[in-house]
Amino acid sequence: MLRVGFIGLGIVSNEHVLGYLDNPDAEIAAVCDLDREAGRRWLERWEQGQATLYDNHEEMLEKESLDIVEVLTPHHLHCALAVDCAQAGVRGLSLQKPMAHGLAECDRIIEACRRNGVKLRVYENFLFYPAFERAKALIEEGVIGEPISVRVNTMGGVKEGAPWPIFWDPTSWRMDFSRSGTGPLVGDDGFHKFSLARWFMERDFEKIGAWIDGDTPLDAPAMIRARFRDSAGKPKYAQLDFSFSPRMALPCSFWLEDFVEIFGEKGVMWINQCTGGKDRAYFQACNMSGSPAFPPIAVFVDGEVTTYMEEVPPEERSWSSSFVGATRHFVEAVRDDSRPVFSGEEGREITRYIIAAYLSAQEERDVYLDEITTQAELDREYEIKSNFCNAAAAA
Ligand SMILES: NC(=O)c1ccc[n+]([C@@H]2O[C@H](COP(=O)([O-])OP(=O)(O)OC[C@H]3O[C@@H](n4cnc5c(N)ncnc54)[C@H](O)[C@@H]3O)[C@@H](O)[C@H]2O)c1
Repeated sequence: MLRVGFIGLGIVSNEHVLGYLDNPDAEIAAVCDLDREAGRRWLERWEQGQATLYDNHEEMLEKESLDIVEVLTPHHLHCALAVDCAQAGVRGLSLQKPMAHGLAECDRIIEACRRNGVKLRVYENFLFYPAFERAKALIEEGVIGEPISVRVNTMGGVKEGAPWPIFWDPTSWRMDFSRSGTGPLVGDDGFHKFSLARWFMERDFEKIGAWIDGDTPLDAPAMIRARFRDSAGKPKYAQLDFSFSPRMALPCSFWLEDFVEIFGEKGVMWINQCTGGKDRAYFQACNMSGSPAFPPIAVFVDGEVTTYMEEVPPEERSWSSSFVGATRHFVEAVRDDSRPVFSGEEGREITRYIIAAYLSAQEERDVYLDEITTQAELDREYEIKSNFCNAAAAA
């Protein structure tokens, strides 16, 4: 039985715990949060009485012999905590996204894990969402032919007069650029959207052109277009759109919904499910994508529309299922000593796209990914100065 420790018992920990409930290979042996009382409530909520509670990760790492540690804290702590875990000699380290603030920090994490023989995984649950997994399989079967472009559309909203979702609370660390290092959309949620585009197209980006406006409390509206590498014979493209509708009532405690559209040589695929689907462990979902108007997957090819996965009950394609899949996957990777999704190098690559997008918007030009290197960051050839969130609009 692998012994697991959590650092950070905030919102997302309530999704991570799901993959350990009834897991024959791993159990939560220790948890750590600065807020001891919140930690006590968490252990009670999830009936994890076997786990020891700490309020100091150094003490936890020293006293417990842990096989896996999950780092689930605000972004500015990821690097230091990851290095501490690597030096403590854990077998597997799972680090929530975005990986870190900048490439130098990503390099430090990767190097500390390499030196100490630690299996590093950057947590990317979207790639384990059932509708995306099925869509990828359909593409590989050639259903829409060779993919040409992918569009990932993210929408956020809050009903006029309703309280801000905790994610966007103006006092939250997420809205503080020094701690988040990003905006809540393009750099935080966007980590998933860049990674999805790359996964569907199976190649890295070559250049990115972004337009991010600061009219709203968030880094939205944002329109990001990108061309993939190795596209000499067959160009491939991505478009990532982030919008914010300040008076759109999303009847939920979460705040996002997303839709993906993939154009292939012989057809089009729409994936209408992800974040907003079905209630999750902690949040009431908006269930927009649960409406019959949105089949999980629809394909238009040869003049016909075919839909997929409508027979799968909504609870089996809730967003929480992506967390269960991602968590169990890493337990298996540590158990079997196999390669995890995402590796540290992949997490670093997505970090480059996020930097390129903010830099492009900041300098109002297309940015080639070749510009985004650790050396250029250390030499201050570029510096991201803001996350484009407009605090005044949030007041
Ligand atoms: N994959 C996803 O879809 C997804 C969704 C939400 C959040 N996240 C990521 O998860 C991470 C955490 O986000 P969250 O929403 O849970 O944040 P949160 O603010 O709800 O929780 C963070 C927790 O960390 C604790 N903490 C802070 N410093 C600590 C320290 N030094 N030692 C121990 N505990 C400490 C805080 O007390 C708090 O309980 C972030 O990286 C975020 O981007 C990912």
